Amino acid sequence: MTFRIPFALGGLLLAGIFALEVLPAAAEPNRVVFPDLEALEHYTTVTRGEVTEHMLTSPEALAAVRAGQPMPDGTHVVLVDYRGGEVFRYFIMQKGAGWGEDYANRTGDWQFQAFHPDKSNNTAEAADRCMGCHQSRGDSEFMFTFSDILSE
Ligand code: HEC
Repeated sequence: MTFRIPFALGGLLLAGIFALEVLPAAAEPNRVVFPDLEALEHYTTVTRGEVTEHMLTSPEALAAVRAGQPMPDGTHVVLVDYRGGEVFRYFIMQKGAGWGEDYANRTGDWQFQAFHPDKSNNTAEAADRCMGCHQSRGDSEFMFTFSDILSE
């Protein structure tokens, strides 16, 4: 018994340290899932120095915007970040009914997530930063390239 108590305490301490390290990234989980890129349409390109960004969304969402309607629930908007011709990362926003309630409605029903080139979740990019920046675009589906859909 005298050996077991310190051992258990050590385990608890380790678990505590592990939780501390993991918590900041896991503190704000979100519901974004990686979409089927084949089902999406490219609607604009933004170039910044060596970075080329292709923006994609669904044909249904493009049609809705052009008809002056909200983008449907389930819509993905994808930013494919290319460097040197290779995918460097994906930035993705997705809309779902009631999703805004997860975060006191910071970006309507849109949630944000970064993904690695292999499409796995990039938890190092904090989604609250994404939302903080996109929050200013509440009148255009929280998007910066919304008007490119209309001017295409
Ligand atoms: C500092 C401000 C800022 C932050 C932080 C930010 N974005 Fe953006 N985002 C932009 C701007 C500006 C654009 C328009 C494209 C451009 O200028 O590069 C954009 C474009 C996008 C687009 C294409 C649709 C649109 O809005 O035009 C998606 C998707 C996107 N961002 C997702 C994300 C995700 C996911 C994160 C976090 C991992 C994130 N963004 C963080 C400013 C930001």
